[in-house]
Amino acid sequence: MSEQLRFDGKVVIITGAGNGLGRQHALMFAARGARVVVNDLGGGAHGGGKSSASADAVVEEIRRSGGEAVANHDSVEDGPSIVQTAIDAFGTVDIVVNNAGILRDVSFQKMSRDDWDLIMKVHVNGAFSVTHAAWPYLRDKGYGRIIFTTSGAGIYGNFGQANYSAAKLALLGLANTLTLEGRNRNILVNTIAPIAASRLTETVMPAELLAVLKPDYISPLVGWLCHEQCTETGGLFEVGAGYMAKLRWERTRGHTFGQGLKWDVEQVAAKWPKVIDFDDAEHPQSVNDTVSAIMTALNARSYGGNEFLDLDVAYAAE
Ligand code: NAI
Repeated sequence: MSEQLRFDGKVVIITGAGNGLGRQHALMFAARGARVVVNDLGGGAHGGGKSSASADAVVEEIRRSGGEAVANHDSVEDGPSIVQTAIDAFGTVDIVVNNAGILRDVSFQKMSRDDWDLIMKVHVNGAFSVTHAAWPYLRDKGYGRIIFTTSGAGIYGNFGQANYSAAKLALLGLANTLTLEGRNRNILVNTIAPIAASRLTETVMPAELLAVLKPDYISPLVGWLCHEQCTETGGLFEVGAGYMAKLRWERTRGHTFGQGLKWDVEQVAAKWPKVIDFDDAEHPQSVNDTVSAIMTALNARSYGGNEFLDLDVAYAAE
């Protein structure tokens, strides 16, 4: 059997760790030697209320099993106090798992400003606040692992979740840039899109499905991505029911109208099949890959006489 991948000496902050996925992450890290800050506001699934009970129960469970953990009951919007809990109890922070979340599902037509703002506050501002407060510690020590928790609703959209979708995909944007800013300080950043039974999904999924979507099926991926042996960064992973897979962007080869030439709506319509043709697609990985595609278009030469000349044809004829 392979050697157990452990987190001895590592300090982990897990937000929203009083229930569901966060609780499982906390139990997994603690069982492998990490010292864990169990953060949870203890409110309802739609954002109301506050209670210390759920975070305290998880801390108690970890301690009973011989692990080390402390509770923090602040909202993720108050990241500095959550990080301070880690510093006060354990002197540092190595790993941040941004997991806390709520839902305010309602069709866009009926969505209130409050429904929008609350979801942004908890998911986007919360993940920002905790990660931003931890960042200087990770930079100074030249070590860090960060997880963001997005959702299929963000990646693909989902009826009734305009607020949640927008917030969840904002986290991927944040992760993408922190990947770049953290890389040379050995701060590695990854994003998961889980599917699991929890109080967030119990009302929208049938019982048979919930029974096989155990939240503890998500934590092993989080553990690996946060382990010092794992060099993955900037990844986006779908995970659930034992399945885990990496996603990436895909771009068609597209069509380039030559510089100095004229093209209009009709020429776009004529070239549309090529613009959307994913045969022989590319997989851009950085903003440079966008810039280079645009530079290719800028460098495309004008061919005299034919103002709607197709450059592919022109190059082929050279
Ligand atoms: P859950 O409701 O069981 O756990 C979320 C925890 O976050 C709760 O304990 C809650 O008290 C805590 N929390 C909420 N607002 C907070 C705040 N302002 N500050 C601190 N803690 C707060 O839900 P679940 O399913 O475990 O969700 C965990 C994460 O996974 C969420 O970010 C959710 O959006 C995401 N997710 C879950 C999916 C699923 O299938 N369960 C699907 C896609 C994403």
